[in-house]
Amino acid sequence: MRVTHHPILGEQSPARTVEITVDGRKVTAREGETIAAALLAAGIRVNRITRKQGTPRGLFCAIGQCTDCVMVVNGVPNVRTCVTPVADGMTVETQKGGGPAPLKSGGSR
Ligand code: FES
Repeated sequence: MRVTHHPILGEQSPARTVEITVDGRKVTAREGETIAAALLAAGIRVNRITRKQGTPRGLFCAIGQCTDCVMVVNGVPNVRTCVTPVADGMTVETQKGGGPAPLKSGGSR
């Protein structure tokens, strides 16, 4: 859900959009917004699953301080989605525990 009319700011101007893939699902995002904002607008609330207890975590501080929103972005784990802008064609995955091992320079693990 997005705010399309704000009582003080008025009508929101249409934004250019990009498409990202979240756990295999195509999601349309506004150019310039954060990954977390795009996920919230798409109704996606779980960003990661904790390592020890397997519980879901989602957006908490929204200012890049708590790491509750980390996800695997383009194969890179531990990306803070609340401060990372979307990019067209980006792949985002729910992070399980510490996520996959980081990619080596050649793209292998
Ligand atoms: S929600 Fe706290 S770092 Fe992103």
